[in-house]
Amino acid sequence: MNSILLAGNWKMNGNMLQVNQLIDAVLLAKIPAIEWMIFPPSIYLSTCQQRLLESSVAWGAQDVSAHCNGAYTGEVSASMLADMDCRNVLIGHSERRHGLGEDNAVIAEKFARALEENLQPILCVGETLTQRESGESEAAVLDQLASVFPCLTISQPKQLIVAYEPVWAIGTGVHASTSDVASMHQSIADYITSETDMLPSQVRVLYGGSVKPSNAEPLILVDRVDGFLVGGASLNNQFTQIGEICSSLF
Ligand code: PGA
Repeated sequence: MNSILLAGNWKMNGNMLQVNQLIDAVLLAKIPAIEWMIFPPSIYLSTCQQRLLESSVAWGAQDVSAHCNGAYTGEVSASMLADMDCRNVLIGHSERRHGLGEDNAVIAEKFARALEENLQPILCVGETLTQRESGESEAAVLDQLASVFPCLTISQPKQLIVAYEPVWAIGTGVHASTSDVASMHQSIADYITSETDMLPSQVRVLYGGSVKPSNAEPLILVDRVDGFLVGGASLNNQFTQIGEICSSLF
């Protein structure tokens, strides 16, 4: 990879003023070797379309419907996202898997809808604390990956982006150890290249879970960490600080 992908998941935070301020910050952050991608609440996607279409900052939706269209109140379809020039979408974030009960089958449907509309999915995977404590972390993560592989026959994306986010590390201030991140990222990359037609150079594995300026350096130096999916620290100037730290090491 020739750049580090820093993706900010703003979750259900902010208002129009703050969204514009956060967009200003990434637009001003001309940091070498950093690729920015932001995921605002869906109501602000049109603001991103207006402000970022001509820029190098990418944006995406935090979720997409598993359905194409119809009577699904509150849902947003992949074709609607594409219609708004939105090219990326988070799929299977922990807060949807574990907070809203989305299982691997639903997530595979969402992944399929995204590929049908040529959106770039960022598939989020990660084990729970119980799975970790029972030594099932790798099995859980590879199972989550395997569930979307059949979708790759729909249209193979140019790259497959996976965010490894241990559930117990999200929003807790506790990040996974560099050795755990190293072995999981290697397993993810190996599994994808052995089970699909994706080449190693087409696979990007991001780490997510309590990434902040104070831990960005050791984490980005881990082999096969191609960037970060940042939650809390993407809502303030820590996001660009993380970019500066990563860029200085590149
Ligand atoms: P966090 O969230 O950085 O606040 O832990 C990461 C995420 O949910 O993607």
